[in-house]
Amino acid sequence: MRTTLTIIPTFNEIENITGVVDRVLATGRSDVLIVDDSSPDGTGELADELAARHESVFALHRRTKDGLGPAYLAGFAWGRSRGYDVLVEMDADGSHQPEALPTMLDELASADIVLGSRWVPGGSVVNWPLHRKVLSRGGNIYARLALGIDVRDATGGYRAYRTSALDAIGLDGIASQGYCFQLDMLWRGLERGLRVVEVPITFIEREHGVSKMSGNIVRESLVNVSAWGLRRRITALRELVLHHRRLPSVRANTRRLAPS
Ligand code: GDD
Ligand code: MN
Repeated sequence: MRTTLTIIPTFNEIENITGVVDRVLATGRSDVLIVDDSSPDGTGELADELAARHESVFALHRRTKDGLGPAYLAGFAWGRSRGYDVLVEMDADGSHQPEALPTMLDELASADIVLGSRWVPGGSVVNWPLHRKVLSRGGNIYARLALGIDVRDATGGYRAYRTSALDAIGLDGIASQGYCFQLDMLWRGLERGLRVVEVPITFIEREHGVSKMSGNIVRESLVNVSAWGLRRRITALRELVLHHRRLPSVRANTRRLAPS
């Protein structure tokens, strides 16, 4: 039996967090760690109450809000030091349906990373304004072209990692702060030859609170993805010219689960 920890980063999610935690616990498949960055709305205090109420719920408090990436890295370190085999990423706002967790965890039996995917057959987004759809689809198309990957939703935030995948990725050098963190983790995994499966999910836009998406978050992704793609092409060219070798494909180990 594998032990699973679902990490939920929070910044001002007081209206959302209780429902999501209850729904994760109802699956019977995972413990929960809330990583709160000193939310002014009292989410941190509520996280402590939930942790006191349920023995499989924990709360981690960080002093500053410095982005999704650092919050997840702190959560990963917490989970790894306690011996969990599987670490899950999930948004706090109800966009990621905890009921999809069992399917995702089952797929991890034959993969290193499972991506909850909005942009594969069977996946969908509910209640997003047009500009968010365009941003997400456009960002994913750009990532596919720039990096040469065959993943439809490389920016999503609902995922399951084997702890061994995190070991292979090596978390020390990860500096991405915003949602670019998701791309960063996936790209490193693909470069290292990890097996990635996309599972269709329904993403439902939040009803309470506000998104933390910003222009800086978009810029960080654009700059980093461009740089990674360029670096990969230079490395591939050098291998070919100097050593007459081809780099291993970053598309080889990816697959998609058919819609149910
Ligand atoms: N601790 C912490 N610190 N949590 C944060 C921070 C931060 O600096 N920024 C955001 N969060 C938390 C939010 O509280 C929420 O639980 C989750 O991260 C996602 O934030 P949202 O602001 O709701 O993201 P979104 O709905 O706009 O974006 C979705 O799409 C992105 C792009 O595809 C999410 O699914 C992202 O994960 C995804 O990368
Ligand atoms: Mn959201």
